[in-house]
Parts: sequence; C-alpha cells; structure tokens
Amino acid sequence: MASEPGNSGRSGSAGRSGGARRTSGAARTDQRGRAGGVGNAARRRPGPTGGSGGRQSSAPGGAGGQRRAGVDPARLAAYDVVHAVSVRDAYANLVLPSALRERGLSGRDAAFATELAHGTLRRGGYDDVLARCVNRPLTKLDPEVRDVLRLGAHQILGMRVPAHAAVATSVDLARRVAGIGPSKFVNAVLRKVAARDLPGWQAELAPAYEQDPLGNLATVHAHPRWVVEAFAAALGGSLAETAAVLAADNEPPRVTLAAWPGRSSVADLRAEGAEPGRWSPYAAVLTEGGDPHRIQAVAQGRAGVQDEGSQLVAAALAEAPLTGDGGDDRWLDLCAGPGGKSALLASLAGRRSAGLLAAELQPHRAELVARALTPRGRPSRGVLGTVVADGTAPAWRPGTFDRVLVDVPCTGLGALRRRPEARWRRAAGDVAGLTPLQGKLLTTALNSVRVGGVVAYVTCSPHLAETRDVVAGVLAARSDVERLDARPLLPGVPDLGDGPEAQLWPHRHGTDAMFLALLRRTDTRTGDTGTRTGTDPASQ
Ligand SMILES: C[S@@+](CC[C@H](N)C(=O)[O-])C[C@H]1O[C@@H](n2cnc3c(N)ncnc32)[C@H](O)[C@@H]1O
Repeated sequence: MASEPGNSGRSGSAGRSGGARRTSGAARTDQRGRAGGVGNAARRRPGPTGGSGGRQSSAPGGAGGQRRAGVDPARLAAYDVVHAVSVRDAYANLVLPSALRERGLSGRDAAFATELAHGTLRRGGYDDVLARCVNRPLTKLDPEVRDVLRLGAHQILGMRVPAHAAVATSVDLARRVAGIGPSKFVNAVLRKVAARDLPGWQAELAPAYEQDPLGNLATVHAHPRWVVEAFAAALGGSLAETAAVLAADNEPPRVTLAAWPGRSSVADLRAEGAEPGRWSPYAAVLTEGGDPHRIQAVAQGRAGVQDEGSQLVAAALAEAPLTGDGGDDRWLDLCAGPGGKSALLASLAGRRSAGLLAAELQPHRAELVARALTPRGRPSRGVLGTVVADGTAPAWRPGTFDRVLVDVPCTGLGALRRRPEARWRRAAGDVAGLTPLQGKLLTTALNSVRVGGVVAYVTCSPHLAETRDVVAGVLAARSDVERLDARPLLPGVPDLGDGPEAQLWPHRHGTDAMFLALLRRTDTRTGDTGTRTGTDPASQ
C-alpha cells in the first residue's frame, strides 16, 4: 500500500502516456461516467470565457504556462470551491454560488459540481484514504495537488463516476492547476485509491464495530469522533440512532422555504411548484432543488429560505402561553443575525399587533436582519426595529418584553447537513469556549422578560453541554423561572425527547437538530422590577 508513486521518470512516463490517452478517452467516458450526472456542458456551450468545449482561458489555480487540459467546467467549479475552503478557510456555501456562476453552470451540471464539492468536503477530503496511498504527510503536498486528489477520491469512492473517468479527469485537472509532474503523481495515487471501493477502505481504516462502535461509526460516516460522542450522549447512548443521525448528516437537505404570514402563504409557494412542508404550517419544500430565488415570493422578500426546525421553534415561542396581567405586544430577538427567525417572528407579531425588536452584536449581521425585516425598504408590520447591541449588556430595562427569543451562538452541530466542511472546522474545545456566553445571554433573556413572559432558549446544536447543561446551570442560580413543556407547542411533531425541552433531529424529523427550552418568568429578582416600563424599547 505504502509506496509513493512520486515523480520519478518511471511513474512519470506511465502517467504521461496514460494521461495523454485518457484526455481523449475522458471525453467519451465522461459522457457515460456522468450518466445521471453532469451532462455535456463542456461540449454543449462555450465556456464562460467564450472558448469552446469548456476550455477556459484563465486557469483557476495558477497553472500559468502549462498546456491547457480539457477540464469540464463542473469539475473546475468544484475545484474552485474545495480549494477556497482548504486554503482560504472559505465557507463552501458562500463560494459555491459564485463558482457555479463564473463557470456558467446550471441544472444537472450545477448539481454535479455541488455534489462533487460538498461530498468531498463532508468526507474530510478522504484524507484518511489518501494518507494510505501517499508515503509522506498530506500536509507536505502542494495544496492544489491535495485538492485534486480529494476530488478524485470522491468521484471514485462516493459518486457513480467510473474510476477510469475519475482518474483521467483528475489528471487533466492536476495538469491544469499544478502542472505536468504533479498530474502524473495524481494518476498514480488515484489508481491506488481505486483499488478498493468505499466499504473496502472503511473495512481497512475503521476500528471493529464490536470493539469500538463509536470509532467505527466516526470513520464509516466521516465525522470527528468527538461529534459522534456528543450525538450518542444526546441520544441516550443509542448506537442505532447515532448511526442514523450521522448518515442523515451526509444527505444534502432539501431546500425549505418559510412563507412569512401576512407577506405570503404556502399556497403562493405551491403555485410556483413547491410542496407543503412536513411539520410547520409556514413551510414549503422545493423537492426538485434549484435556486430558491426563482420563487417570486422569495425574490420579493415575502418568503425566505428556512429549515423547518427554525420555523417550529420560532412559532412555539409565539404560541407559548403567557400569564399575569402584562400585555403581549413587545417581543425581543436577542441574537437575531442574519434574521431568519426574526422575519418569521415579526410576521407573527404583526398579526396580533405586537412588535419585535431584533438585537445583534455584529453590525454586518444586524444589517442582514434589517434587510430581512424591511423587504424592498418598507418596514413590515410587527417590527419595532433592529439594533446593534451586546446581548450580555442590554440597553433596555429589565422586564421590558413579553416574549424573548435567545438563539445563541453555538457549535452548529445540528446543521452539519447544510455546512459540508463545518464538522472538520470545529473542535471539541470550542464547546467550553461557547457555553459561558450562552449562559450569559440566557440570563439577559430571562431578565428582559416580564413576570409571566416567556423565553425560548434555542441552539442549532444537540450537544448536551450547550443545551441541557446551559439551561440547568442558569436555572440553578435563580428561583424566578419555571420550565414549560415545549413539546405540545410543536403540534403533531413526535419523538421530541423526554421533555420538558424539545430536541429535533435530522434522522427523526428531517430538520436541523434544533433544541428548544421554554422558560417562563415567575417572579422578580432583587434589583429587577420584572415589570413592564412604558418606554418604547426600540428607542432605548
Ligand atoms: C445562531 S445565530 C442566530 C441566528 C438567527 N436567530 C436566525 O435565525 O437567523 C447567533 C447570533 O448571535 C450573535 N451574537 C453573538 N454574540 C452576541 C451577543 N453578545 N449579543 C448579541 N448577539 C450576539 C451572532 O453574531 C449571531 O448572529
């Protein structure tokens, strides 16, 4: 296994002749290899630079002076994304749309490029496999070469691309972005990768399930071990469910929309081809995928892209019963950026003559919130305003609000389906760095709500340290809060856990793994009136 192909004359000549043959062969096999995949974009239309056959005049990775190989635009786009993530720490979701646009991709070609980029990143670039096929640390490889190998490995092991087509196109891509020598190296390494299928590599690399089930699941489902351990703990130790959630994380989620009440309806979205969501009365799903901005209501700011889990927790806060003789007209979103839940909450508030104040620490994210709340520059009903504010040092008086959402910054382990590289960016130590802030924000939220008012503590992570333990830690220090059973406020949604909190899961509900605790203020604290003031919170 271990001998490195290297760039010696021998392997080089094998690579060269093989590579030259495969360049022309790739055109043939590509059409077969991508049956159901990318199609023939490179031949169907000129590339974005006006050349034919998808050949482009500017190399994406600095291949200056090299012969230009015929690399199809879909693979180039996927390379652009993976390389931006690996060398610039870019977010795949943010760079993908421009990569597709710059390479002129749509439809099945765009779908192929997306799956190639995202699948490669989800699997951590198959670095564990590649490490067995190269006899020096992968960190010593040129980043361009490493990324070509990663993309080649995903085509061979994770997509239905025949190995000979995957190797040939990777050789062309390597020549394009790194030169002839590395392309021979790529040829030799990928031939080693192709010697086994994915189950074969997993059998080689994973510890035996019987001896180390979590270690086995981590390798088989390509998650860091600490994440697997966190999921297993949150699922009460069930190995079957842990395997199921890991598998669900590797499936790209469907695009879900929220019809913001008063601005659009699910019927509007259905009229444009979306299907009703599974749980949320505001949800519609683009079953065929595609750009959500082709939906008029989305383009016009009357609906947004939002996972059903996010919709459910926002709607639960809006429906939670209040007590006492306070009103129900002042709502707060304490950590609002980029504004998805604020938009839904403000729409719901507007229907009952309440108003939402959206607070966000980061000015650029507060700007996104303001845009979500003022489509086409017109303030919506239900909006008190957007403020840049540190939620740990509130600018309003205690007891000002009737309902408060605190959707805290977290590890995001509940949204790994939609952030392909995120699982490898996070580290176990991040959790301890976040929980003190989460506790402080929850404390502010509780102090900001009037007696009888309700706080929704929300995370997009099922990690117990960020969910159950933060709530327990904050409540242990105060006696003026009661926990509500959140589950009935997600009507019709089963399997939300033992309560009183609700935990959603991708494998159970098809949503992100959102956590919701509903907490009602029952009393005042020393130095804290816990009663409503008459001042407009948006003006403070
Ligand atoms: C999980 S996100 C909120 C997502 C949002 N609720 C939505 O649905 O679009 C957490 C937000 O909290 C913000 N944040 C972090 N620290 C904060 C603080 N001290 N005060 C207010 N917001 C903060 C982050 O900038 C981030 O935008």
